[in-house]
Amino acid sequence: MMSPHTEFAAMNNSEILVVKDLNVSYGESKVLFDANLSVKPGQVVSCVGRNGAGKTTLLKTIGGFLKPTSGSIIFNHTNLIGIRPYDIARMGLKYIPQDKRVFSDLTVRENLELGSYATRDYNWEQVTSLFPRLKSLMDHKGGYLSGGERQMLMIGRAILGNPKVLLIDEPTEGLAPSIVEQLKNVFKELSKKTALVIVEQNLSLVCAISAKVYAIKEGRVVTEISDEESIRSNICEQYL
Ligand SMILES: Nc1ncnc2c1ncn2[C@@H]1O[C@H](COP(=O)(O)OP(=O)(O)OP(=O)(O)O)[C@@H](O)[C@H]1O
Ligand SMILES: [Mg+2]
Repeated sequence: MMSPHTEFAAMNNSEILVVKDLNVSYGESKVLFDANLSVKPGQVVSCVGRNGAGKTTLLKTIGGFLKPTSGSIIFNHTNLIGIRPYDIARMGLKYIPQDKRVFSDLTVRENLELGSYATRDYNWEQVTSLFPRLKSLMDHKGGYLSGGERQMLMIGRAILGNPKVLLIDEPTEGLAPSIVEQLKNVFKELSKKTALVIVEQNLSLVCAISAKVYAIKEGRVVTEISDEESIRSNICEQYL
């Protein structure tokens, strides 16, 4: 068991989230091995890896949905281990799952409002300026949205309450190139206020927006790339 003192020592002051030596299993089956990751305010950090590498497991564990067997997750000076997902979200760390499930019988506005149910913090201006499309869809039922609109709604719901860190699992999966391009700009803009940890298979997007890229292979972070030249030249591909 780490003392609180050691945990603080593990965190560089400027980092908003530090994951250290995280191990996660599903029953007998071990899926993540000593995973490390960190992100600073104003950064976009990406995790890449093949299907089954453990990317979703990593994000779900950070969000509190899975309990690690060991390791620490320090968010804004607090160790999140043992804290429930709902409380982690209230603290300002939000997880957007891979499946873009919205409430189909609720309107877009009602779906968005659910994101701030706990904190009563509503930054409508941020949501509508990043997603003007949602503004015109406010009274539409969630069930009628296209895939791209659903993803905008998922992100909009998460940012309505001004989170400090957003974990987004495969945001562009199955979306048209024009929507991917829009999301790219949204991520760049959003990261000025909210640190982003994105799991993404679209490597050209990853190379365009990330300050740091983690390649995950068979449950291990096999490399961490943070120099701009290497990121832009898609060097992470060789580690997958
Ligand atoms: N609930 C579960 N119970 C048991 N094993 C699981 C469970 N969820 C995931 N796994 C296994 O854990 C490993 C990592 O899965 P995970 O979903 O984290 O991968 P991923 O990198 O997100 O993959 P993808 O790119 O397909 O989304 C896989 O071998 C998967 O089969
Ligand atoms: Mg996944």
